[in-house]
Amino acid sequence: MKKKSEQSTSELLKSLKELPLYSSGMNDLNFSMNECYPNPRLSAAGLTVDFSRASISQGVLNELLSIAESKHLVEHIQLLINGYELNNTEQRAAHHTALRLPENLQNRVEVTATQHEIKRISEQLRTEKWSGQDDLTITDIVNIGIGGSDLGPRMICHALANYADGPKVHFIANVDPRDLECTLQTLSPSNTLIIISSKSFNTTETLENALSARQWLLTELSDDDLSKHVIAVSSNIKAAVEFGVAPENILPMWDWVGGRYSLWSAIGLPIAIATGHQNYCDLLAGAHSMDQHFAQSPISTNLPVLLALLEVWYINRCDAKSIAVLPYSHELRLLPDYLQQLVMESNGKQVDKQGNLVSHRTCATIWGSAGTIGQHSFHQLLHQGTENIPVDFILPLSSHSDNKHKQAHLVANCLAQSKALTEGKTIAAAEQELLDSGASTEEAKRLGTHKASPGNRPNTIITMEKLTPGNLGALIALYEHKVFAQSVIWGINAFDQWGVELGKQLSNPILAALKAETKDSQAPSDATTAHWCEQFIEMHKGS
Ligand code: F6P
Repeated sequence: MKKKSEQSTSELLKSLKELPLYSSGMNDLNFSMNECYPNPRLSAAGLTVDFSRASISQGVLNELLSIAESKHLVEHIQLLINGYELNNTEQRAAHHTALRLPENLQNRVEVTATQHEIKRISEQLRTEKWSGQDDLTITDIVNIGIGGSDLGPRMICHALANYADGPKVHFIANVDPRDLECTLQTLSPSNTLIIISSKSFNTTETLENALSARQWLLTELSDDDLSKHVIAVSSNIKAAVEFGVAPENILPMWDWVGGRYSLWSAIGLPIAIATGHQNYCDLLAGAHSMDQHFAQSPISTNLPVLLALLEVWYINRCDAKSIAVLPYSHELRLLPDYLQQLVMESNGKQVDKQGNLVSHRTCATIWGSAGTIGQHSFHQLLHQGTENIPVDFILPLSSHSDNKHKQAHLVANCLAQSKALTEGKTIAAAEQELLDSGASTEEAKRLGTHKASPGNRPNTIITMEKLTPGNLGALIALYEHKVFAQSVIWGINAFDQWGVELGKQLSNPILAALKAETKDSQAPSDATTAHWCEQFIEMHKGS
């Protein structure tokens, strides 16, 4: 028998199959709290993770921890934190943790310089010292970006709405013309500043929107005044200058910051503008404190690692194909959207770091929405569907609202959902309830199975006292590190995203065909595309 350290990832994960699974299935309530992870609540960086409803025993956890050891997870964490070139297909580091180091620990002078610029620009805008044309005040900021250049700052600006007391920040991502049009129609060019956020400065959607926004600015501004109304954040300074952004208005970012980790770079400028520099620094400090926990805690009490291992168990042993993230917080309603990119663009991979097809499952689908909204829509499937879908509940215990009564409702609903998923309701209990409410024996028998819930549906509750900038920073870093730890276990590169390239490549010739005046010029080779291009051209003839 091979030692663990000599086994391949697939062999290691196959060994999970031999471990007992807490079975689900109607009426089977074998799940025993006593057998659960023995230390059910662990805290770090202002967050507490409650594992008491996770379907895992100490024996299984030990097995997972030994897999993590054989995959050298601890060493990989150090490589990440120290900026080693972990992104092997692009030969880059993934050093986003460097962006949230406190200034006195910062070795990268370019980061400190850029953070000073973020402070200067955000303070000028917030104190009305940044004047637009004719010294008019900037009241509105429009951030134009997509993917990592949009989802992070957008989610955070929503999450920290209670802290937002600066110019109003709007986010535009979609190349659908209605996205930009609907926002701009409420604004005035003289009072608006556009931020073009694009690491590559080469993303079609962003460049198209930036061109339209510039046209719109020029309906009121002179060419000379344009520079007071456009900022860019990019690692491609040359392209930003060529686009016409004044060099002094371009904030840099670097190859070693991945798009989906870029909210910690100058891509986070809208956050500082909306909420103020101190709140922005608190957000970074919260993430840094989770980085320290990740780097320094033993893996057996390391929150990102434990969450990662738990999900490996669900995906590779319990065949979970999707994971729901349910924030019980209106302000965190965009968290699932943000996590979809973080998790699925990172770990939606089918080859290992050496390029070989893996023979184990990797990333599950991430989805979700704010509680209690989902309870009246898709929770039915979580409770009684044929799939067993693990859930992450995110629960700030207190709210920024003074309405304690409604906050108690919200918390009660979250706890009730978690309990219902775990405990379910047996057919016998459902029948008894029916009998108690006056139903006949026949009626109780008829409806019992409909009303029963299988239970044994694993869930984790991540709580915090309140949704503050610091706690939010820690929450995002928790998920970032969980994703990384999983990629190490699965042997994949979490930091590239080659899969998104094919669609981009194919869209250019199709665009050329759509713009062609005649049917046969540049006709696409496949029948489906050709058909719809023809339809499009026909419909837009003469317009
Ligand atoms: O489409 C994928 C992607 O490359 C993401 O990884 C990235 O966050 C997004 O596009 C936007 O890229 P950019 O910031 O270069 O415009």
